[in-house]
Amino acid sequence: MTLISGPQVAEKVLSECRRDITQLKADGHTPGLAVVLVGDDPASRAYVRSKDKKCRELGLHSVKLELPATTTQPELLDIVARLNADPAIHGILVQSPPPPQIDEAAIVRAIDPAKDVDGFHPVNVAKLALEDPSGFVPCTPLGCQRLLIEAGIETKGAHAVVVGRSMIVGKPMAMLLMAKGTGGDATVTVAHSRTRDLPSITRQADILIAAIGRPHFIRAEHVKAGAVVIDVGINRVEDPSSEKGYKLVGDVAFEEVAPKCRAITPVPGGVGPMTIAMLMANTVKACRQAVGH
Ligand code: GUN
Repeated sequence: MTLISGPQVAEKVLSECRRDITQLKADGHTPGLAVVLVGDDPASRAYVRSKDKKCRELGLHSVKLELPATTTQPELLDIVARLNADPAIHGILVQSPPPPQIDEAAIVRAIDPAKDVDGFHPVNVAKLALEDPSGFVPCTPLGCQRLLIEAGIETKGAHAVVVGRSMIVGKPMAMLLMAKGTGGDATVTVAHSRTRDLPSITRQADILIAAIGRPHFIRAEHVKAGAVVIDVGINRVEDPSSEKGYKLVGDVAFEEVAPKCRAITPVPGGVGPMTIAMLMANTVKACRQAVGH
């Protein structure tokens, strides 16, 4: 069994970003990312802080906006409009999920698709379906695909089963795996909470992507011997023995599943660092496309 290391592959992606940033800066362009958080959800706050920190480490221009939970839809639309018009900002991310008074779909549609480094705007969803490389692909599935490529896992002709159908992970993951080319050409099945007899489907997977959002949901009975398992889950579960009072666990019951696998990603140390690395890569791409590099 091989452990697929998220931090190691993320570092490779980030070193490519550093090289591109150096070139862009030499030509007078600094990629800029704006990250917007509405409210004070602790997990979202932690994500936004680490995105901002990574930008600074790479020498990107970073704008972090932490708005009160009472922010209204018109206020947020106004902020998005200002970021759309700001030439120093090449990427805009509004952290999901927002508070209930915010219509998230309308906010996503208000972001300039050329700055939509999350890949959530309908224009970018369509570009992914159309296999148009100028589009932005959501960072988490893009990171999962890169992990498979870097770990030398052949996707061509493999049966990939994606568990989860979210717009952030499941759907774009399925589209990436079925697209033509490196990291694609797979036969893809998408399973979800209404799937009948889930274990009989997941046991067919050569590559199993767990993106359900439920701690330790995927057990040994779900996995074929020799499968490759990518665990997208980052679930906070209570842990009185830890200083923070919680620990992070994946969607996969690692202890019982790992011994059956050819390769698996751990949590933490798997997909998580890749999401941030791909966000940096998407921001660099947005800048390059904006300045015609
Ligand atoms: N919440 C969880 N993952 C993501 C992500 O990739 N982007 C945004 N904007 N919010 C998220």
